[in-house]
Amino acid sequence: MLNVTPLAPALGAEIRDIDLSAALSDVTVDELRAVWLEHQVLVFRDQKLSDAALVAFSKRFGELDTVPGWEPFSAQGYPEVLTISNVTQEGAAIGVLGDGEAAWHTDMSYIDLPPPASLLYSLEIPAEGGDTCFKSMYAALEDMPVDLRQAIAGKVLNHDASHDSSGQLRSNHVLAKDFSQMPGARHPIIRAHPETDRPALYLGRRLNAYVVGEDMPDSEALLDRLWDHCDQERFVYRHRWQPGDLVMWDNRCVMHRRDPFDPAARRIMHRTQIKGDALVVAY
Ligand code: SIN
Repeated sequence: MLNVTPLAPALGAEIRDIDLSAALSDVTVDELRAVWLEHQVLVFRDQKLSDAALVAFSKRFGELDTVPGWEPFSAQGYPEVLTISNVTQEGAAIGVLGDGEAAWHTDMSYIDLPPPASLLYSLEIPAEGGDTCFKSMYAALEDMPVDLRQAIAGKVLNHDASHDSSGQLRSNHVLAKDFSQMPGARHPIIRAHPETDRPALYLGRRLNAYVVGEDMPDSEALLDRLWDHCDQERFVYRHRWQPGDLVMWDNRCVMHRRDPFDPAARRIMHRTQIKGDALVVAY
């Protein structure tokens, strides 16, 4: 039986008294999956995970994926483990996303089959800053004014592939003149979560997004209203990192962002993600 402590009203639960480096039984993994589907974000403190152990635990939830263009930042010997860090060695960054803010986003919403889950493990964290916030897109949809929900019903969003969540142009992309020409993927704005059947809002990221079939000014106005509505603390769980934390979230119903931190401090995180294997359909 898992020791589960909810962390915030809308989402998040801490699982205590578990060692993720141990060989977990299928029953325990099934229980973890059920609790994760309910709480959307799981937090495990005080873990000691080598890259091999992080990969082994992550693989209990599906096949692992890599991020196109970010392959040079994988952990040594583990192509499925992405380094997120501001640390440099001999002048070269060892990881991605630096020390700035990472804007609200859902991982890799710019591909057709985005990862259902991401797992982030903290190795070194700054004394302050660098918190990661998670937002329930179930709650954001459930609390939405009726007229706004009607305005997005049946609509599809184009998700830009060219920029990352720190606003940087990805190295494998070139800048287009007009953001409607940017490469990306299209997803319904309201989608049925494939495992829970609960409807969730799916916004990806704000930068360069547009509502397919709308004029740009109308698309911008609708997206501004939607993002304003989502900008409410009651939908959020804020995670203050300690070394040895493993946080696992459900990209199908959760967005996340990261606070900036002191560039002189060191922050090193290792991330895995589960490969998407099914198109998620409109609700
Ligand atoms: C991410 O956006 O996946 C990284 C979050 C973080 O660095 O805390």
